[in-house]
Amino acid sequence: MTRLDDLSARGREFLGSRHAIMAGAMTWVSERNLVSAISNAGGFGVIACGSMTPALLDGEIAATKALTDKPFGVNLITLHPQMMELIAVCARHRVSHIVLAGGLPSGAAIEAIKAAGAKLMCFAPTAALAKKLVRSGVDAIVIEGSEAGGHIGPVSLGVLAQEILPVIRDVPVFVAGGIGRGAAIAAWLEMGASGVQLGTRFAASSESVAHANFKKAFFRASARDAVASVQLDARLPVIPVRALKNAGTEAFTAKQREIAEQVDRGDLDLAAGQLAIEHYWAGALRRAVVDGDIENGSVMAGQSVGMVTKEQGVAEIIDELVAEAEAALDTRVAGPVRLVTAA
Ligand SMILES: Cc1cc2nc3c(=O)[nH]c(=O)nc-3n(C[C@H](O)[C@H](O)[C@H](O)COP(=O)(O)O)c2cc1C
Repeated sequence: MTRLDDLSARGREFLGSRHAIMAGAMTWVSERNLVSAISNAGGFGVIACGSMTPALLDGEIAATKALTDKPFGVNLITLHPQMMELIAVCARHRVSHIVLAGGLPSGAAIEAIKAAGAKLMCFAPTAALAKKLVRSGVDAIVIEGSEAGGHIGPVSLGVLAQEILPVIRDVPVFVAGGIGRGAAIAAWLEMGASGVQLGTRFAASSESVAHANFKKAFFRASARDAVASVQLDARLPVIPVRALKNAGTEAFTAKQREIAEQVDRGDLDLAAGQLAIEHYWAGALRRAVVDGDIENGSVMAGQSVGMVTKEQGVAEIIDELVAEAEAALDTRVAGPVRLVTAA
């Protein structure tokens, strides 16, 4: 058993995979091909349900099962209006792991998932909420820092990990956000994480069905191009999203200004203004991932995008991450590498 196997034992056992490396669900990206490829390569793939209907999710799970006999999970967004039907679909397929994202889950959802015998994972934005989730029966926690791609909270993984890892010991904790290299995986495991979750590194992999334009945008971008959306007016709330800056992100800022002015003038009531802001991005990720409109669509990406420079197969990415993590841990045993100059 390697030192990496040892440090990741709890996470590997929980996931039932060779490595404690989860590929975080990405709406429009994490479908049968990517998810099965990740699980087949020894990682843990997660289907992104997003706004799929129960019938679509049913088909996606069946198709994924046909491509892999390894465990994989399903990510459900708590705000989905057919949440209970989606859980029932997962239960019928005996999905082993369900990940709930997008807010605190209802007691009914937790109960239904537990009754189905699935392991339940939830995102925790603070230590207090992580403790509450564990008390309500959640089997594992994911903490995701603001470095991540997609919808994000305000706090970096470096801070969340210090606050949450020492106090959540009863269940495994997986860390996400900004992980691009195996050395970071080794460091988070040493700090007490049971495993890691990556999204950005897998989004532009060979097995990803994302449009070629979307992948090219990833290869060109550096960390500082992956920016969080900005809220201009306290009356018009914006859930921050990290994505590559483009014409769409500029237009969003202009749109907020325009709506705020309309509200100020009394041409638009506040509720209608808030709705217009909320609806602005609807379909924007699809536009970028599926249609390839990387100028006006939302090219969601984390700050680790700078470490994605070429298209690689999923197995190659996972093997590379594992080798880097093992090499980093080897230096701990051998002591730091020092430059020796000839006398
Ligand atoms: C394009 C894209 C779409 C995403 N969609 C979702 C989603 O539907 N549900 C979810 O829980 N997380 C979503 N995420 C977050 C990922 O699951 C993962 O936690 C995150 O990418 C990890 O950080 P990283 O991007 O720095 O690797 C998305 C991320 C990206 C890049």
